[in-house]
Amino acid sequence: MCRFEKSGGPDYTDREKQKKAMGLKSLGDAKVEKSRPRMKLWMIRASTTILLWTCVVQLTALGEMWGPRVLKGWPACFTPFNSPLALKSSSVGERIALPPKRVYKNNGYLMVSCNGGLNQMRAAICDMVAIARYLNVTLIVPELDKTSFWADPSEFEDIFDVDHFITSLRDEVRILKELPPRLKKRAELGMVYSMPPISWSNISYYLNQILPLIQKYKIVHLNKTDARLANNGLPIEIQKLRCRVNFSALRFTSQIEELGRRVISLLRQNGPFLVLHLRYEMDMLAFSGCTHGCSDEEVEELTRMRYAYPWWKEKVINSDLKRKDGLCPLTPEETALILRALDIDRNVRIYIAAGEIYGGERRMASLSSTYPNLVRKETLLEPSDLRFFQNHSSQMAALDYLVSLESDIFVPTYDGNMAKVVEGHRRFLGFRKTILLDRKLLVDLIDHYNNGSISWDEFSLSVKEAHGNRMGTPTRRVVIPDRPKEEDYFYSNPQECLQLLNEPLLGT
Ligand SMILES: *[C@@H]1O[C@H](CO)[C@@H](O)[C@H](O)[C@H]1NC(C)=O
Ligand SMILES: *[C@@H]1O[C@H](CO)[C@@H](O)[C@H](O)[C@H]1NC(C)=O
Ligand SMILES: *[C@@H]1O[C@H](CO)[C@@H](O)[C@H](O)[C@H]1NC(C)=O
Ligand SMILES: *[C@@H]1O[C@H](CO)[C@@H](O)[C@H](O)[C@H]1NC(C)=O
Ligand SMILES: *[C@@H]1O[C@H](CO)[C@@H](O)[C@H](O)[C@H]1NC(C)=O
Ligand SMILES: *[C@@H]1O[C@H](CO)[C@@H](O)[C@H](O)[C@H]1NC(C)=O
Repeated sequence: MCRFEKSGGPDYTDREKQKKAMGLKSLGDAKVEKSRPRMKLWMIRASTTILLWTCVVQLTALGEMWGPRVLKGWPACFTPFNSPLALKSSSVGERIALPPKRVYKNNGYLMVSCNGGLNQMRAAICDMVAIARYLNVTLIVPELDKTSFWADPSEFEDIFDVDHFITSLRDEVRILKELPPRLKKRAELGMVYSMPPISWSNISYYLNQILPLIQKYKIVHLNKTDARLANNGLPIEIQKLRCRVNFSALRFTSQIEELGRRVISLLRQNGPFLVLHLRYEMDMLAFSGCTHGCSDEEVEELTRMRYAYPWWKEKVINSDLKRKDGLCPLTPEETALILRALDIDRNVRIYIAAGEIYGGERRMASLSSTYPNLVRKETLLEPSDLRFFQNHSSQMAALDYLVSLESDIFVPTYDGNMAKVVEGHRRFLGFRKTILLDRKLLVDLIDHYNNGSISWDEFSLSVKEAHGNRMGTPTRRVVIPDRPKEEDYFYSNPQECLQLLNEPLLGT
């Protein structure tokens, strides 16, 4: 079984030392998490694999029903990249040969520390692999952010299958879990060049500016990774590699995948399901300053929180203006109206992919009376299932990610990183329906409907008409030279990697 090779993790003690030596932030209590006995982990992995195996065999027997669909979502072990249907023709259990190692003259070592939440880091990892590949350097397994708002102590290997990551990309780039001993010494002596690369750079920047530094210092440490590679204007090989890392080399750990499968099968028992990424958590509201529908005390609490976090730069925010501009996440009440306007069946199961909803039951009342079959991971699973995940927001987010990917309909109420990457992945998996809400237009319609200036039928018709073309169907990524922030994000529509698009769109 290819996914299950030796899982000899890195030597944490050394890695800690190495990071300290490099002047990286001390991980503090993260250590408790890591001393989890490896044997136990191994056993969990082993049993999960057996379970998974049984699952696969049964799924294959189920055939067309939902097996292929689910398996398509998990390209990994059984299906080579770019042929999600290959499973059909190959016998299950066939071991896929590892790609041959790419032989190249190594120009040095690239270390990276990702910043941000899980999905932002995910995209960054893809970018960094592509960069390392084109510079002919050796990449050290990226370090994840433990100091962001979410303060998740998880390491790369707690979230992603690190061995799969390394071996499945070995025909492109050499990836190591840690620096070779000789260089580790250098790193311990602080002989590492640390810097944040310039945002939205093209590959020439990395070739002309970063590569010489790597050649000079042997090790360069990129200490910021969000949006450091342009969306557009890159060679097609780089774009394809970004997708390959994203859709194929980055696989969640077997524990996360197994739990994801369980949630999906529980949801599927009752037919189709919708995933609502209801980004209405406290951090979102405090950060964005969007307080529509909140009480005075809540507005005060959110404002206090915003001022308390120094790295949330924008402090004075006019919530009403921001909302009218379509820059606020929809509230739960607004979301209920929109789903109903779109004729979403009242009895459909709706999985809420989100953390704790701010305002709790009071704010959820209209949504749960409109849609009685609302579920969350906490209601579908036993507390014991989530025990290992509880204090790891990234692992929870990974679970939501997997469920979102598999849903019949995916509706994000805000276009954050998770929404974008799931949207892109669903496009990749065959343009699965993602309803991309036009919030600016919607809040205007909602205000008109709420004050009685338009009828329900007018409202519903307008909502439907406005979204006919916003369902995750093939489109071209918007390119705006010199304003990368405003253009479509590469990862929300990686069109270079979408088979269907290559003919009609790239040809024009
Ligand atoms: C990387 O290696 C390839 C050969 O594998 C070579 O053609 C290319 O010029 C090298 N690029 C750099 C930046 O060293
Ligand atoms: C990255 O490295 C540069 C140069 O050492 C330093 O000035 C900067 O504060 C670092 N940034 C982060 C986020 O660690
Ligand atoms: C890459 O970026 C640099 C600086 O922004 C620019 O001068 C150059 O033309 C770009 N190269 C390509 C191939 O787009
Ligand atoms: C999670 O963190 C909370 C407080 O930070 C603590 O009370 C709880 O015991 C932790 N749970 C687990 C499973 O570690
Ligand atoms: C990468 O991450 C997710 C899924 O893996 C996806 O939704 C996103 O669009 C992907 N981006 C690329 C580069 O294909
Ligand atoms: C209803 O609300 C809309 C949008 O806020 C506004 O333009 C309109 O004048 C209002 N109509 C009435 C009758 O209050």
